Amino acid sequence: MRWRGLIEEYQEFLPVNEQTPKLTLNEGNTPLIKLDRLSAEWGVELYVKTEGTNPTGSFKDRGMVMAVAKAKEEGSDTVICASTGNTSAAAAAYAARAGMRCIVVIPEGKIAMGKLAQAVMYGAEIISIEGNFDEALKMVRNISEKEPVTLVNSVNPYRLEGQKTGAFEICDQLGGTAPDILAIPVGNAGNISAYWKGFKEYHAVKKTGLPKMHGFEAAGAAAIVHNRIFENPETIATAIRIGNPASWHLATAAAEESAGVIDEVSDEEIIAAYKKIASTEGVFVEPGSCASLAGVYKHIENGKIAKGSKIVAILTGNGLKDPNTAIEYSTIKPVLLPNDEEAVARHIRGVVHS
Ligand code: F0G
Repeated sequence: MRWRGLIEEYQEFLPVNEQTPKLTLNEGNTPLIKLDRLSAEWGVELYVKTEGTNPTGSFKDRGMVMAVAKAKEEGSDTVICASTGNTSAAAAAYAARAGMRCIVVIPEGKIAMGKLAQAVMYGAEIISIEGNFDEALKMVRNISEKEPVTLVNSVNPYRLEGQKTGAFEICDQLGGTAPDILAIPVGNAGNISAYWKGFKEYHAVKKTGLPKMHGFEAAGAAAIVHNRIFENPETIATAIRIGNPASWHLATAAAEESAGVIDEVSDEEIIAAYKKIASTEGVFVEPGSCASLAGVYKHIENGKIAKGSKIVAILTGNGLKDPNTAIEYSTIKPVLLPNDEEAVARHIRGVVHS
């Protein structure tokens, strides 16, 4: 049957009723891809869930469809969020779809170009501040308490409700069982909290078992790992450039309850994973997404993940979101040749016979 989107597909697990608009852009139902080469190389059974195939190119669509539908149901006509880019793209798209206004507050110069293009095209009101995500979030939290606007950052509980559906899909895609390890990037810490909630709820009904939750922050923004706020977070992975995660305590609870861990990966490890998965598996995801894959490699190397484990890494956003980083870090540059068939043929012979 045709996929109807999260609100209809998972209504028995979600806070929906007859009044909830059946808002959808056909989000969810994303692929779970087995990485055969990396599995063989690393001695594990490794799958990735490519959340970049969602309608706006990131996992945020799962949470945003719920948050915007509930805002509409409650009579709101404007949503607001702070964002490192993906939340704003999703909020703007679902607001447009629901016939609502959207206001986004972003850190100046620190959001990937594709994400900005999306917010512009979906018609959001965009405010760029000379500050970071944490400062933008603080602002919109305060403003939403005083003004008639609905906050749709992940502190809105409907966001986590929608995002927990990713865990349901993984269990179904693995034939009714959770993996041994769930690896996931951690920024504002909403998604790891949502996944853990989802695994627990699905296990209660379907006896799927529970994974160990391995969350990964960027080393320059690793507040949870070091148990201190990072006033000036810095990382190539702008999506997770966050120094004071809003769902900090839910994330540590997820790691503790599941016998997992929250760890950090360096920008070098993120970039290495970013290049490796694209060039060896044909999967192109944005740098922030690669915190999960970089973390898997690190934990296999240091023994925190046992050989033979069944692992699912969440790849949170599409590689096309951030074309500048791809061009900058790729070692491949287009070869410039004259408009001359013989010259092109000669070059190709050199490539295929080498
Ligand atoms: N990966 C990507 C691609 C993201 O955009 C984010 C968060 C995360 C991982 C981390 O998820 O915050 O739930 O721990 N992006 C937010 C945004 C902050 O504004 O788009 P988290």
